Amino acid sequence: MTAQKDIFLYNCWYVAAWDHELIDGKKLARTILEKPIVLYQGESGKYVALDDRCCHRGAPLSMGRIEGDDIRCMYHGLKYDPTGKCIQIPGQDRIASSLVVKSYPVEERGHLIWVWMGDPELADPDLILDYPPLHDSDWKGLPAYLHYDANWLLIVDNLSDFAHLAFVHTNTLGGSEEYAYTTKPVAIERLERGFRVERWHMNAESPPFHKKVIPDKEARIDRRNIGEMLIPGVFFLQTLFSPAGNGAEKGNLEGSRQYRNCQFMTPETRRTTHFFWNYMHNFDLENSNIALSLRDSLFEGFYEDKAIIEAQQTLLDNDPDFRLRVIAADEALTHFRQVLAKLIKEEKEKKIT
Ligand code: FES
Ligand SMILES: [Fe+2]
Repeated sequence: MTAQKDIFLYNCWYVAAWDHELIDGKKLARTILEKPIVLYQGESGKYVALDDRCCHRGAPLSMGRIEGDDIRCMYHGLKYDPTGKCIQIPGQDRIASSLVVKSYPVEERGHLIWVWMGDPELADPDLILDYPPLHDSDWKGLPAYLHYDANWLLIVDNLSDFAHLAFVHTNTLGGSEEYAYTTKPVAIERLERGFRVERWHMNAESPPFHKKVIPDKEARIDRRNIGEMLIPGVFFLQTLFSPAGNGAEKGNLEGSRQYRNCQFMTPETRRTTHFFWNYMHNFDLENSNIALSLRDSLFEGFYEDKAIIEAQQTLLDNDPDFRLRVIAADEALTHFRQVLAKLIKEEKEKKIT
C-alpha cells in the first residue's frame, strides 16, 4: 500500500466542517487525511482543532467537555488549552511539558471551517480559497454535506468533465444525453494549481433542477458553465441560463438567471471523502423554497454520482493492476492529477509535512 505521506498534500487549507456543525458547544469528531481530530468553538467564539486523542491514556477528546476555550478529557480530567497544551491535572501540581496534543491552525471563512494539516508555520490565512458568494447577500443557498466511500480524486475526476451530466444526470442536473454530443468545452485553461473550463449549450431545454424553480419552464435557453478546479480539491462553478438567442455569449445577460456553486472534497482517508457544497442562486431571493428545491435537486444529483463513483472505487480496489485508459475529455483531470502529484513530491522532498 502507498505510504500515507505519498498520497496527501499537507500544506494547504482543507474544509473540515460547516460552522453550523459546531454550534451549541458541539465537539465534532472528524477524520481528515487519516488523522482523527476534534473541532469545537470555544466560549469566546474561537475555533479550535486538536488531535482527538488525549495524550494520557488515549481517550477521545470529542467525548470531553468544553470549558471556556479549553477542553477537558472526561476520562481522568486533564484539561487542554486551544494550543493543545495540558494546563490542568486534577490532584497534581506539576505538569510535564510533554503533556500536549497536536493543535491545527483553523479559520472560518464564509461559514466554512478550514484546517491546515501541514507545518503550522506555513499556514497563511490568505491562502484560503474563500468563495465570495458565500458571504454576499446577492446570493442565497443552503450548506450541505455528503460522505463518500471513495477516494477524493475520483470525485474530482467526476466534476472535471461536464459530459457526465448527460449520462449520470439525464433526469436531474443534465437534461439530455445530447449535452455530451453537441457541446464541447470552448476552452480548458491550465492553471498552476488546477484548471478552468468553459462550456456552452445553445438553444436547449432547461434541465429538470432549473425548471423546478422557474415559471417559464418550456422556454429554450442558452446555458453556460464555467468551472474551476483548484488544489487540493475545491470546485467553483458559475452557471448561466439565458433566453435562447438573446446574445448571452456576446455579453447580453438580460433575462438571465444565474447560479454559483462551490464544492469541497476533503480526504477523510485514502478511500473515503467529506464532500461539502452550497448551490446558490441570484433570483427571487425572497422565495426560500428555491434554495430548498435546489438543495434537494443537488442531493438527488450527487446521489447519482455517489452510486457510480463508489461502485467504481470497489472495482478499482478489487483489481489494483487495472489500467485506466484516457479519452480527449480527460485532459483537465489529467492535468489536475499531474499538478497534485508534483506538489506532493515537492512537499516530500522538502520534508515540510
Ligand atoms: S485519558 Fe484523558 S485524562 Fe486520562
Ligand atoms: Fe455529477
